[in-house]
Amino acid sequence: MNPGRFITFEGIDGCGKTTQLRLLAEWLRKQGRTVVETVEPGGTDIGRQIRKILLDPANTAIHARTELMLYFASRAQNVEEVIRPSLAAGHVVLCDRFTDSTLAYQGHGRGLEPDTILALDRIACHGLRPDLTLLIDIDLETSLTRARRRNARSGQEESRIDDEHASFHARVRDGYLALARHEPARFVVIDGRAPIDAVARRVAEEIAARV
Ligand code: TMP
Repeated sequence: MNPGRFITFEGIDGCGKTTQLRLLAEWLRKQGRTVVETVEPGGTDIGRQIRKILLDPANTAIHARTELMLYFASRAQNVEEVIRPSLAAGHVVLCDRFTDSTLAYQGHGRGLEPDTILALDRIACHGLRPDLTLLIDIDLETSLTRARRRNARSGQEESRIDDEHASFHARVRDGYLALARHEPARFVVIDGRAPIDAVARRVAEEIAARV
């Protein structure tokens, strides 16, 4: 058992989870908790290099299984270097995406077998699972509009997955909702269409009640 708490944020692109993670980190620090923020893919030097390969829109040749293993390669490094040591030290770890992203995107989105994904999860994460997962849910239209706006602002360097067809993103969203239904004790689904501060209040309420 880890003395810390492992909380993950999930949702389709543009759902606002990264903003919400930052706001929750601020709120928890005000409560006197030590908070470690990390992200998948990324979160370590090695992970950031892997992230570049994964999200570069020029890399159209990546096979679905290569993509799968790269996401887990980044995760294995993050688990070893950041997440496990921080949990062992009793910190709260907030992670922007984790294995549920892989089940939603590579599983439901690309059609890879959940058993294959879970086998890699066992190798990369050694059974580490989030204590709580906040799924920020938005509709596809909002997702597309926000992702386009973000890519227009920050360039197209990270748009490979955003560029997938709307039907791909629809499968990912349905996949997330199915995962949440399957594990209601771990997942909290939050409507991400509300204003930022209203979503942040909901997130803080859930954390206060559960963590
Ligand atoms: P981000 O923009 O939320 O940081 O996520 C990067 C992209 O990678 C996003 O489109 C979702 C995708 N992704 C997967 O397809 N599988 C995964 O396991 C993870 C962590 C992210």
